[in-house]
Amino acid sequence: MAVAKKKIIVVGCGPGAESYITPAAKAAVRKADVLIVSRRLMEYFPEVAAERIDSGVDIEGTLDTIAARRDAGRQVVLLATGDPGIASLAQPVIRRFGRENCEVIPGISSIQVAFAKLGLDWQDARIISAHSSDPEESADDLRPAGKIAVLGGREGSLRWAAGMIPKLGKGRRVFLCEELTLPDERFSEVSADELIRIPVSARAIILIIRGELLK
Ligand SMILES: C[S@@+](CC[C@H](N)C(=O)[O-])C[C@H]1O[C@@H](n2cnc3c(N)ncnc32)[C@H](O)[C@@H]1O
Repeated sequence: MAVAKKKIIVVGCGPGAESYITPAAKAAVRKADVLIVSRRLMEYFPEVAAERIDSGVDIEGTLDTIAARRDAGRQVVLLATGDPGIASLAQPVIRRFGRENCEVIPGISSIQVAFAKLGLDWQDARIISAHSSDPEESADDLRPAGKIAVLGGREGSLRWAAGMIPKLGKGRRVFLCEELTLPDERFSEVSADELIRIPVSARAIILIIRGELLK
């Protein structure tokens, strides 16, 4: 008899603190036979006795592992930090297995928390990722944006931002948001020059905001 394959569930786990994990996310994780997790999320949900598989850096390998577990009828749940809609494995998973075979549970993004700290809305923000490599966006491309949020967390990402900010024109204010929602949370206004000297945390967002938007 053919094994019934379950939908793969992609769960947003928020930026760090347990209080930012939604009840819907917790309920989805409780269904897991297999949890696909990055190292950072490995210790989450200790009460769930599912098999834990490190999502690592080999995306194709991870997708093959998900396929094998799913073919065996097991409930696969993929954990994403923040919201799965921003720089997560959700899209590769959906492309491989199809929208109809996946369910996404949204989470609270680190970007949302960063803008909430400033008391700014963010529907018009440019979100760019310097998480694993320097972004391809040029200064010409970014200059029109009043609000830019850079996913950092890598020393090179601060260097990239420090080089980009002067090219965007005068009047930009820069905020470094680290370890949001966690006990070591840090949020400060910095200059582009300072960015080069700061030892960055693995969890960091750089907000680059046109000054008049903060009046
Ligand atoms: C792979 S991306 C995932 C983003 C995630 N999907 C989200 O919505 O927050 C990882 C990046 O998210 C940011 N990040 C995640 N958690 C954070 C936190 N607690 N504080 C600051 N930045 C965080 C950092 O820029 C990190 O390099």
